[in-house]
Amino acid sequence: MSFKLRQQKTPLFDGLRQHIKGHPVQFHIPGHKHGNGMDPEFKQFIGPNALAIDLINIEPLDDLHHPDGIIKEAQELAAEAFGADHTFFSIQGTSGAIMTMIMTVCSPGEKILVPRNVHKSIMSAIIFSGATPIFIHPELDEQLGISHGITVTSVKRALQAHPEAKGLLVINPTYFGISANLKEIVQLAHSYDMPVLVDEAHGAHIHFNDNLPLSAMQAGADMAATSVHKLGGSLTQSSVLNIQGTRISPLRVQSIISMLTTTSTSYILLASLDTARRHLVLEGKQLIDQTIELALTARKEINHILGLSCPGEEILDDNAIYDYDPTKLIISVKELNISGYEVEKWLREHANIEVELSDLYNILCILTSGDSREEVGHLVKALKQLSDTFYTGELSLSNHVHTQVPHMPTLALSPRDAFYSETEIVRLKDAAGRISAEFLMIYPPGIPIFIPGEIIEQENLDYIHKNLEAGLPVQGPEDPSLQYIRVIKERKAIL
Ligand SMILES: Cc1ncc(COP(=O)(O)O)c(C=O)c1O
Repeated sequence: MSFKLRQQKTPLFDGLRQHIKGHPVQFHIPGHKHGNGMDPEFKQFIGPNALAIDLINIEPLDDLHHPDGIIKEAQELAAEAFGADHTFFSIQGTSGAIMTMIMTVCSPGEKILVPRNVHKSIMSAIIFSGATPIFIHPELDEQLGISHGITVTSVKRALQAHPEAKGLLVINPTYFGISANLKEIVQLAHSYDMPVLVDEAHGAHIHFNDNLPLSAMQAGADMAATSVHKLGGSLTQSSVLNIQGTRISPLRVQSIISMLTTTSTSYILLASLDTARRHLVLEGKQLIDQTIELALTARKEINHILGLSCPGEEILDDNAIYDYDPTKLIISVKELNISGYEVEKWLREHANIEVELSDLYNILCILTSGDSREEVGHLVKALKQLSDTFYTGELSLSNHVHTQVPHMPTLALSPRDAFYSETEIVRLKDAAGRISAEFLMIYPPGIPIFIPGEIIEQENLDYIHKNLEAGLPVQGPEDPSLQYIRVIKERKAIL
């Protein structure tokens, strides 16, 4: 059977539908029993089909923890589609898949090379596994005020300094759609026989179109955690973990992903992964081509609007910005003299538009095959009105020249040791010089400003203050009002 014919199959989705067609009398959970035992308003709203396939791992439906039936078949088709040797479905998002990757390669005390601007799930995994992170400084973009990926040169230095590390983690592409030269990075790491783990949360679609950056599997990486739910068309929370080669044992991955996964696996999510894979294989290339074309047109129009800029291929270099995903529109608003967050609110209030994220200087809008020309036209029109309202032509020097990216603090204790240390609570404004016992981040994108074990510096506090002033969602500490933070207890000499 040809690749295309095989990929038309959706064994998991078909198996579910076949099962419900027989109308089995269910004396098992979920107790709502295809909706009959639940709140009628919700039942009516969500509809009978979704409720009928909200099932659990009874024998005919296989078991995500020990797949040997329809889930196994669906995972094998996904592996073929993503160019992997094995694919594991994750219903705990890419966060669960990332934790699995790190816990697969690292035992307590072992080193892992990671960029500092990683998602909080990576830091959580470092705490769970007891691994020691060796941070690689990401490239900072002072024009846009964002961090990109890591360069080949910085990876080379990290490998030379820590050849015994158990893995190298790379974000490809970043939240903003920027990719480093992943293929070269993988070759370098492999010259040390070190596995490469890729956070591919923002790249579920890139494997399916040659005009997008190389996917982790195409670049030869050993493992990749991929949010199919973000840009691959499946339901929220469903992701895949792809692996290839001989450095990683699929048996160990299966046992770790199982340890981190609920025993009550959602078949709605699993079926959406099965069908999203089919759609990506059969229609992905053509649909992504159309999306790229739509995004390139939008980018051109946005670049004609006074006070706005939307970078494209002109920002590519041979380093951290080796390639980019044109379907991500990074719209720099700093010349309007208002923050990205104010623009996000303005678009909500004046144009009923919701963006993907905003920060001090930018908004990010993502386009997919779910967007139409009309919707993108609505965005461009709203951005023109925004410019008419705010653009004065006078550039505030502080806004124009000094974009600020978070300062990378120094790690004083391993994140796990800090997390389990004796702690005390101090006022956040007085915390400079203390070692944090908590995470603090702006979400989205969820990249920590500091993590447990890092020394809080005044520069970090100033950055937090600036983001709070701009109304951005700073979060993480136990104290949601952000007045206080938990730090490592200082031991004073006993008098
Ligand atoms: C870079 C990055 N990695 C990992 C994740 C986690 O993905 P998920 O939400 O699927 O758990 C995110 C989520 O925003 C992310 O931005």
